[in-house]
Amino acid sequence: MKKVTINDLLKWKQEGRKFASVTAYDASFAKLFEEAEIPVLLVGDSLGMVLQGKPDTLDVSIADMAYHTRSVRAGNTSALLMADMPFMTYATPEQACTNAAELMKAGANMVKLEGGAFLVDTVKMLTERAVPVCAHLGLTPQSVNIFGGYKVQGRDQDAAEQMVKDAILLQKAGAQLIVLECVPGDLASRITQAVDIPVIGIGAGNETDGQILVMHDMFGISANYMPRFSKNYLAQTGDMRSAAAAYKQEVEQSIFPGPEHTF
Ligand code: KIV
Repeated sequence: MKKVTINDLLKWKQEGRKFASVTAYDASFAKLFEEAEIPVLLVGDSLGMVLQGKPDTLDVSIADMAYHTRSVRAGNTSALLMADMPFMTYATPEQACTNAAELMKAGANMVKLEGGAFLVDTVKMLTERAVPVCAHLGLTPQSVNIFGGYKVQGRDQDAAEQMVKDAILLQKAGAQLIVLECVPGDLASRITQAVDIPVIGIGAGNETDGQILVMHDMFGISANYMPRFSKNYLAQTGDMRSAAAAYKQEVEQSIFPGPEHTF
């Protein structure tokens, strides 16, 4: 696979070409996803749950993220690689710069931050200093204790309007990508049209530019439960390589996510 850059994703958005993305945490799976030609990988702080067995993502450190980012980059040189900034590692713009540098040096092409308008100064500071940013809106798992659980976000009119505004503000601040998690499909569609940058959805319907799944959910091997918006491609295909290929194909053909995976 040719090296993927943010310019490719931008072009695909303009052409209406959907793309697949998945989380990865180690070199072996990163390589398998490279062979499957999945163009975007995320070293998610979901590793706190799926690798470390914690109930949430809050205990993940920058050192954990740098370690797994380095491992993924070692196995895959062509995907556009995003890495999550963990809980409280970007509480101030200065702190965000120091910590984002660790992830970029480990091989990330972009860092992902959870939150809306309050991150405008942070996004500006990072992007002006050569750190590309993906903004994560909707169900932001680091805020689980504010939300009182992992709940669909943006269901009421005010919250939906605020999310559209946040997306536009973050784009203006310099964000080059948006992840939308667990929001109604019609809101995700509206946000995707309201911004020029690519939008990747998870539990956000099939009108976003791309889709992402946690790899353990895509393979149906998560320890706890299977989210309603996910699909077990290993059960469908019988082996991991075919599962990754089937996921990519179903995203590109707009087969996944179907109405049964959409809020
Ligand atoms: O940490 C993660 O895996 C994520 C995805 C759910 C988008 O942020």
